[in-house]
Amino acid sequence: MAPLRAGAGHSFLLRRLHSLSGIVPVGLFLIEHFISNAFATNGPESYTKQVELLSGFPFVVALELFGIWIPILYHSLYGFYIWYRGESNLGEYPWMGNWMYAAQRWTGAIAFFYMGYHTWHLRFSGVHILSHPGAAFGKVQLEFQNPWIVAFYVVGIVAASWHFAYGLWLFAAKWGITTGDNARRRWGYMCVIIALGFIAVGLATMRSFFHWPLQPLDNGAGLESILAR
Ligand code: HEM
Repeated sequence: MAPLRAGAGHSFLLRRLHSLSGIVPVGLFLIEHFISNAFATNGPESYTKQVELLSGFPFVVALELFGIWIPILYHSLYGFYIWYRGESNLGEYPWMGNWMYAAQRWTGAIAFFYMGYHTWHLRFSGVHILSHPGAAFGKVQLEFQNPWIVAFYVVGIVAASWHFAYGLWLFAAKWGITTGDNARRRWGYMCVIIALGFIAVGLATMRSFFHWPLQPLDNGAGLESILAR
């Protein structure tokens, strides 16, 4: 595993910042997001409490902006820049590392478009969840009436899980945490388990929205009546 390309001055720092931002705060946020949403497996009431807790944080919009959106935007845009600058040498060196190199870029791109849609839909359109936490479960159920959206969620969850897990592997190699082939191989097995764990939790969470009866949105309108329109 090659160390971070030295680059000159600024680009070295920006590259390090890209690497670090994948773990803190973006990776930490991903963990929190999977855990919070997994409350759906306990049912709508439990899910609503979790959404209430998160939306009740003081300075919640500033926290979102500086703790989530700006770091994700930085990591994503700089990620596309790294991709654009780098050479895809898949054909010339068909060894595992190059497939993983390509997969890291494609899963990042898929996660980017998925997160764009997901944030726009749940945060910025329709019922406002921050002020109506009780509508969150029903809003996702309504969204899942469309099988294409369900498929997009599955693809998004798999891509983000894989990207983060292989990102943990890359990070450990680049920052000198795993030195030597043995440590990297063992950590590699752990990362596969982490990826599968995230995928399993994500899919189990999705399943809960089908398992429970359709929930009314907070404005009193039942989902059935909305669907019938
Ligand atoms: C779910 C949100 C995301 C998380 C948790 C995440 C996390 C990570 C982590 C931990 C790494 C390893 C850091 C390192 O290289 O040392 C990484 C690498 C990378 N990420 Fe992300 N990332 C996310 C979204 C994205 C997006 C949307 C893009 C856009 C293309 C992207 C592009 C990249 C690229 C290109 C690398 C590899 C850099 C390299 O090979 O040197 N990531 N990511």
